[in-house]
Amino acid sequence: MSVLRFSISYLSSSHFWLLLVLALLHLCFSDQKSGDVLCMDGERRALMRFKHGLIDEADRLASWVGETSDCCRWAGIVCDNITGHVHQIHLPGPDGHCDGMYFLSKEEEKEGLKQMLGGHLSPSLLELKQLKYLDLSCNNFKQIQIPSFIGSLRNLRRLNLSRSNFGGMNPPQIGNISELRVLSLGDLYGTTMSMMKMQWLSSLRWLHHLDMRGIDLSKAIDWFVFLSTLGYTSPCS
Ligand SMILES: *[C@@H]1O[C@H](CO)[C@@H](O)[C@H](O)[C@H]1NC(C)=O
Ligand SMILES: *[C@@H]1O[C@H](CO)[C@@H](O)[C@H](O)[C@H]1NC(C)=O
Ligand SMILES: *[C@@H]1O[C@H](CO)[C@@H](O)[C@H](O)[C@H]1NC(C)=O
Repeated sequence: MSVLRFSISYLSSSHFWLLLVLALLHLCFSDQKSGDVLCMDGERRALMRFKHGLIDEADRLASWVGETSDCCRWAGIVCDNITGHVHQIHLPGPDGHCDGMYFLSKEEEKEGLKQMLGGHLSPSLLELKQLKYLDLSCNNFKQIQIPSFIGSLRNLRRLNLSRSNFGGMNPPQIGNISELRVLSLGDLYGTTMSMMKMQWLSSLRWLHHLDMRGIDLSKAIDWFVFLSTLGYTSPCS
């Protein structure tokens, strides 16, 4: 009798542990399924300030609201799914409608232009310490200069500001983004951007894609030096 009682209590206690383990497993998996990583408060506020600097006629950033909402779920935002840091901002303009050449009707063109973001780029982006990818291509920034603070986004790997109607001088500070792999600033259909110096490009040692189509290099006094630097660092030479 006592042996039987022992084995029953043994069984039920092992059941207890089994249930506990199952419950824990369930918690883990349901967590992963819903991807419950919340964004950081500071980063949410930084994105809000970034939004306030932008002109967004078509309300593309309608999901960017709230003091407590998860900014990892906002349009165009990708977070690291473990740390919750904002890693990517994808806000290119209307797909394939960069330049108005593909619009079929005046109505479509109007809508396409409305979809393009404008305004200015808030330096609050600097608070996104782990930002790796920034795509604001195909928008319309109406000839403003690319702000030099962009050079302080030290973790950027890809920067695409092509065909977004930026103007003026390209900030040489971009040369400070030492991790940059892909840099796209050009515009096949012309841009009013120009460059005074090119030397800064040679400090981007990981760069493997560079698009500067249409950028006026005639004022660049040092392109010769720049090319020879490339010659020195190129693994092909
Ligand atoms: C987390 O992100 C990585 C790459 O960024 C991806 O491979 C992985 O599947 C993601 N995990 C979950 C649970 O979403
Ligand atoms: C940059 O953006 C333009 C326009 O959206 C796109 O066509 C191009 O492929 C992008 N460049 C890179 C390197 O992703
Ligand atoms: C950033 O780039 C500018 C222009 O190339 C340079 O003068 C400046 O020293 C750089 N700043 C840092 C912190 O590297």
